[in-house]
Formats: sequence, structure tokens, C-alpha cells
Amino acid sequence: MIDIHSHILPGLDDGSKSWDITLEMCRLALADGITHIVATPHANDEFTYRRESVREKVAELDSRLSGELEFSIGCDFHLSYDNVEDALRNPQRYTIAGKQYLLVELSDYAIPPQIKDTFFRLLSAGLVPIITHPERNRILHRAPGPVLDWVQAGCLVQITASAVTGFWGEQAKAVALWLIKNGAAHVLATDAHDAVHRPPILSAARDLVTSQFGADLARALVLDHPSAIVQGKPLPATCGALERQVQ
Ligand SMILES: [Fe+2]
Repeated sequence: MIDIHSHILPGLDDGSKSWDITLEMCRLALADGITHIVATPHANDEFTYRRESVREKVAELDSRLSGELEFSIGCDFHLSYDNVEDALRNPQRYTIAGKQYLLVELSDYAIPPQIKDTFFRLLSAGLVPIITHPERNRILHRAPGPVLDWVQAGCLVQITASAVTGFWGEQAKAVALWLIKNGAAHVLATDAHDAVHRPPILSAARDLVTSQFGADLARALVLDHPSAIVQGKPLPATCGALERQVQ
């Protein structure tokens, strides 16, 4: 499995607090069947994102692990005005593995009506926004419909693995399953922050998706789609297949 959203690097944001925790997270990920992690520190008002620092930390982590896990670089990109303008000027500063896919995080407090224009600007520039964990957004809990609209426009959606298994509450779980059922979930990722409370575990959610929606979709969400994303390739047409299947 490939995890495209992880705060595994120490000392860059509110994720791992030390190399010990980072190495423990790596051990857990490996034991869970994860073979490739995209390190995605926050890029927001609280945490300044410097690609070079991320690159150096990944190189050090790589050297401590002797090749057991593969790593790519990305970021957890907050959709602020300054961030968007900079990403349009310097896309490879933020995208996953320097390709076209960009994790984008919505605000918990407000989703401006012009957000679709922002998505269009990114898409027009050749970037593909991957909306992170809409199932955990309280505004979308009340009305998740816009997510389908954004997917229709060309965005992808990343669901948190632990939301599927109930860690974020019943509402988040219900929205996560609703998005999967409607063909509007493309990737499961851990959004891991530590080794205890928010660990890098994908298998439990994969198994639940397997039991409710089948092994093909589960595999797409944890392997086929993330694999295409880190390679900068278009996604295989699995979600359309699901839509036909559940109707
Ligand atoms: Fe995150």
C-alpha cells in the first residue's frame, strides 16, 4: 500500500515530535503493509513549508532505514490566497513528487463560495487538487453535496483511513462511506501524526472497504490510485466502475 498523506517527518509541524517517534511510525507502517509514504508536512499560516528542509529530512530518514520504505515528498497545502498564488508560480514546490497532484486542505471554519474558482485556477494550470479529508469537515457534515461537484470539476478526494473505521465519529464515518459509495473518494490515506493516537495504519480501512464495496475498489484506494499519483499518471477508471456497480 502507498500512503500519500503523512506527517511522519520530525520537527516540521504538529506531526512527529522526534526521530524515535518517526522510526516507530515507520515500523508500524511497514507492519501494516505500507511500502511507500509521501511525507506531507503542513503548509499553512502556522507552519512555514520549505521544500529543501523536507528533502533533507527525507534523506536522513531514508539513510536510517536502509531502504525498507520508499518515500516521496509532498505537502498538506492550506488553500490560503498566498499559498495558491505561490503554487501557481512554483507548482513543484508543493506537489506530490514534483508531479501534478496537490493535496489541498479546506478550512474547518468557512468554505468560501469562490472555492470552485480556486480549484479551476489550479486545474487550468495543470495541477490536480486532491481534497484532503472532506469527511472530517464540519461544514460538509451538514451538506457534503459540494464535494461531488468539485469531483465533477476534476478534483480528487482523499479520505482518512481512520475516519472510515470510526475514529473521527459517526458523522465523519457516514460521510466517508457516502463519498465512497458515490464514486467521490479516490484515495485512502492515514494523515498520520504519531505512533499512538493517529498512527500510519491503512489496513483496517482497506478491509472495511473490501467488505462493503469489494476488493477491487479497496485496492484502487490504497494502491492503484496512490501509485498513479506518485508517478504523475492519470488514475485508472475504478471510481466510475464503482458508480455503475452501486446504482
Ligand atoms: Fe494532514
